[in-house]
Amino acid sequence: MYSEKVMDHFQNPRNVGEIENASGMGTVGNAKCGDIMRIYLDIDENHVIRDVKFKTFGCGAAVATSSMATELVKGKTIEEAMQVTNKAVCEALDGLPPVKIHCSLLAEEAIHAALWDYAEKNNIVIEGLEKPKTDIGEEEIEEEY
Ligand code: FES
Repeated sequence: MYSEKVMDHFQNPRNVGEIENASGMGTVGNAKCGDIMRIYLDIDENHVIRDVKFKTFGCGAAVATSSMATELVKGKTIEEAMQVTNKAVCEALDGLPPVKIHCSLLAEEAIHAALWDYAEKNNIVIEGLEKPKTDIGEEEIEEEY
């Protein structure tokens, strides 16, 4: 049912963890299943994503897509990171079963939420970035853990 790449990223997820004093952090929830994803970004003065970490309270497909998404945005500029859509992540994983496509949205939304946080903190506008709709508070994820 899952591609080898999905299984690999699910079993050996890359970039799990957190970044202290992250440049941007975003936490989103998936309304369909209640799963939660948090992304931390470390962004340098040239707007390049130096490091990225994620934490999730989510399903295997959410873990695999987040792992791949973090690999895809690492070392990229914030503008390039905006091109990493859930479609791009799914393609990089050789596809996901249709019922699991919604899981891949979590990673994209969490990255956007973290970029939004970064943009707000630094008073900049990132082209094409909209305020995340599903960003949830600090408190809620702590309760889930
Ligand atoms: Fe919730 Fe996959 S079932 S993110």
